[in-house]
Amino acid sequence: MSGFSVEWLALREHYDLRARNPAVMDAAISALAGRPSLGIVDLACGTGATLRALSPHIEARQHWRLVDNDLSLLARVPLSSSAQLMITTVPIDLNHDLEAALDGPLDLVSTSALLDLVSDEWLQRLTVEAAARRLPVYAALTYDGRIEIKPADAADTAVIAAVNAHQCTDKGFGPALGPTAARAAIERFERVGYSVVHGTADWVFGPQDQDIQFEMLSGWAAAAREVGNMPLADVIGWLTRRRELVGARLSSIRVGHLDLFARPIGTR
Ligand SMILES: C[S@@+](CC[C@H](N)C(=O)[O-])C[C@H]1O[C@@H](n2cnc3c(N)ncnc32)[C@H](O)[C@@H]1O
Repeated sequence: MSGFSVEWLALREHYDLRARNPAVMDAAISALAGRPSLGIVDLACGTGATLRALSPHIEARQHWRLVDNDLSLLARVPLSSSAQLMITTVPIDLNHDLEAALDGPLDLVSTSALLDLVSDEWLQRLTVEAAARRLPVYAALTYDGRIEIKPADAADTAVIAAVNAHQCTDKGFGPALGPTAARAAIERFERVGYSVVHGTADWVFGPQDQDIQFEMLSGWAAAAREVGNMPLADVIGWLTRRRELVGARLSSIRVGHLDLFARPIGTR
């Protein structure tokens, strides 16, 4: 199990969709234009959010291979295939078998909310394996370390520092890149001869977005507790004050993400 619940992925999907950087998504779609059919592999697909975000904007016949190691998430991928859209799910542990996920006829590698979970070593593997196959890569929603919470609280800085420290712990791929992942990915793709289009894709939660704010704050408090740099009473006090503000519809949160589209130089 990966620890990403169906409920959490469903809650965030709307905000992810809204956050996706339109220029980066357009770059990915335009790079594929004119082909009658496409093979796309979505790495760490969850329940298929990237398929739902991208496929309606692609005119070609699409064959999606959705890869994840969590069977309960894969089981929720809607498999209603048509002549235009064929979907297969493949259980693969990407830490061990990335290469298997990339084998076969493919035109695009996509992923979302994955790169901040992986290690620098794994990221290097991804860029090298993609480059060996001359595959373009659309990687959306990589957390970049920026968190802004309004109104401010005296303990915000300590909690955010703990969250960013927690992001760098092992998420199944070795020590995670966490907040450094987005920049590292751009550099690594450029190093293997790709041109990279990138742009911010921030989550923006307004005062009305209470459910997702409650979830985020609880997750951050749990992360701060695990990291252990703050007295537990301070974490609890912070969470209590923050929850009161959310309950009163006085809280706004922005969480920084970056989208990128990388393609081998020399391809259209
Ligand atoms: C933050 S979720 C993102 C899911 C989906 N891409 C989305 O945007 O909704 C991270 C995903 O990575 C998957 N994952 C984590 N470790 C993995 C591994 N070793 N192999 C394959 N998938 C993995 C999880 O099961 C989860 O679906």
